[in-house]
Amino acid sequence: MKVAIVGASGYAGGELIRLLAYHSKAEVVCATSRKLAGTPLDQIHPQLKGFSNLTFTNPETDAIDADVAFLAVPHTAAMTYAGKLVSQGIKVVDLSADYRLPKDVFEKVYGVPHTDYFKAPYGIPELHRKDCINATFVSNPGCFPTGATLAAAPLAKYAHTIIYDSKTGVSGAGDNPSATTHYPNVGDNVGPYKLTTHRHLAEMQQEAAFLGSKAAVYFTPHLVPVNRGILTTAHILLKEPMEQKEVEKLYHDYYKNEYFIRFQKPVLGAVRGSNFCDIMVESEGTRVVAVSAIDNLVKGASGQAIQNMNLMCGFDEKDGLTGAGVFP
Ligand SMILES: NC(=O)c1ccc[n+]([C@@H]2O[C@H](COP(=O)([O-])OP(=O)(O)OC[C@H]3O[C@@H](n4cnc5c(N)ncnc54)[C@H](OP(=O)(O)O)[C@@H]3O)[C@@H](O)[C@H]2O)c1
Repeated sequence: MKVAIVGASGYAGGELIRLLAYHSKAEVVCATSRKLAGTPLDQIHPQLKGFSNLTFTNPETDAIDADVAFLAVPHTAAMTYAGKLVSQGIKVVDLSADYRLPKDVFEKVYGVPHTDYFKAPYGIPELHRKDCINATFVSNPGCFPTGATLAAAPLAKYAHTIIYDSKTGVSGAGDNPSATTHYPNVGDNVGPYKLTTHRHLAEMQQEAAFLGSKAAVYFTPHLVPVNRGILTTAHILLKEPMEQKEVEKLYHDYYKNEYFIRFQKPVLGAVRGSNFCDIMVESEGTRVVAVSAIDNLVKGASGQAIQNMNLMCGFDEKDGLTGAGVFP
């Protein structure tokens, strides 16, 4: 099956190519970058030397001959490709924020008009699998909302308040250097940002509502000096107290058929490079603390996108994604 990656020079694009190299049915035949058109892919992604002989091309939709396309481009760019590719008969997984929220919410949160809106399944397969199976287009969720929602999902409908506190690695910001990601500012340092206003809050609230929760949802992210990973501590304030055994049973039952959910102490080192989400949960009555760890570029982006592609194409959902984490 032929795969195109629009935005292949970035972090998520590179990770898609790395993971798809181990997929039994997919072959990446097109990798785009406007700035690097004509440059061999392995000059930018040296980790992929020997795994891809492609050269970057310009993202011209008419020239894309593929069965599936991933859009690993910034928000507002994806909406200029999505509809055209679908009309060419290509299945599309969009990694950007462009189709994750209803049009009016997107426009309010991102402060830009949506120029090609259509409704799309929200691709956290553990929660929305039915909508993703055989779909033509899937909107891949944000990295923070993935880890946060998976941590709280089993208890969401019993909560009156959910507070997400996340620590993220620097690759979450993409490969464009900035003062925030400058080494002396981020190395050996930890700090919060967008204390109450991060755009991913809207997705978290949307998912809580989808899970039948009326809880107030809050979110504060922190930048930590690691390349990959998101650790989210969810403080789930319950309407009625729940004992540890009851909470544990609820979580284990909820995720009993989910290959990518593991119950163990969540540490970034254990999920790095993998599509797993590790979860630990502890109750103290009306407050339950649930912590999740994911790799922002895998379960938080490209791995989950391939999981969605597998569902869309009728493949084994785990194809290409069974690798263990990389530690140390
Ligand atoms: N990094 C993460 O952890 C993460 C997690 C979840 C979701 N995402 C989302 O995934 C998308 C990609 O993220 P990233 O971190 O990989 O970003 P990135 O490292 O900045 O890469 C962006 C890619 O998009 C291309 N691009 C930029 N503007 C474009 C346009 N108008 N048309 C076509 N190509 C364009 C870039 O190449 P050229 O400019 O050379 O064309 C580059 O290949 C974003 O929407 C991001 O929010 C990222």
